[in-house]
Amino acid sequence: MEEFATERLIIRRFRAGDGEDLHDYLSQEEVVRFEPYGVYDEASSKTEAVRRADDPAFWAVCLKDSGKLIGNLYFQQQDPPQFQTWMLGYVFNGRYQGCGYAVEACRKLLTYGFGTLGIRRVTAFCNPDNHRSWHLLERLKLRREGHFLQTGYFKHDEYGNPRWHNTYAYGVLGSEWMEAHQAETAE
Ligand SMILES: CC(C)(COP(=O)(O)OP(=O)(O)OC[C@H]1O[C@@H](n2cnc3c(N)ncnc32)[C@H](O)[C@@H]1OP(=O)(O)O)[C@@H](O)C(=O)NCCC(=O)NCCS
Repeated sequence: MEEFATERLIIRRFRAGDGEDLHDYLSQEEVVRFEPYGVYDEASSKTEAVRRADDPAFWAVCLKDSGKLIGNLYFQQQDPPQFQTWMLGYVFNGRYQGCGYAVEACRKLLTYGFGTLGIRRVTAFCNPDNHRSWHLLERLKLRREGHFLQTGYFKHDEYGNPRWHNTYAYGVLGSEWMEAHQAETAE
């Protein structure tokens, strides 16, 4: 079973017993604000941990020191498989944002994807209002490739109308990632 270590983190598969730490962040309004779902209660967090333990797209990000699960990455191959394109996503506990943990974890997973898995392209999408998300993508050196208006909605306003959202599309090729990564290590 794959597991990765970085300077401060362990990135591993979810376990059925991760429900409590998962609830710690999926119960935070600010954390789920741009997600397609609402806050999770304790019972649904436990069920979700069990489900994620069997879903290879989800990676648990834990602090090396304490083992606490502080967030998750999502890394899923897109169809058709021969295009070798994967989508990246991430959700971190609000108390552990602003520490560079998300960028540290994503870098490791992208290096695994481009290096070990030999994938060709990674994409990511976010709401332009989600500044933390696109700042993270730019820190990772993904390129903004599109700005699409009113692409969909996840939630409704108090009158039941859809809250249409816009979308930034980001992407990076394996060749670009490798080049950027080599430049970083040469600095
Ligand atoms: C998107 C999200 C993962 C970004 O998390 P983040 O902690 O801001 O991202 P990073 O890991 O890149 O951290 C960068 C911040 O840590 C700071 N930092 C502190 N120590 C650092 C270190 N050692 N290395 C790098 N950055 C460090 C940076 O200065 C930066 O701070 P700033 O935001 O005040 O400028 C997070 O906001 C989140 O989970 N949001 C809710 C879920 C969500 O919206 N997901 C995306 C849906 S598209």
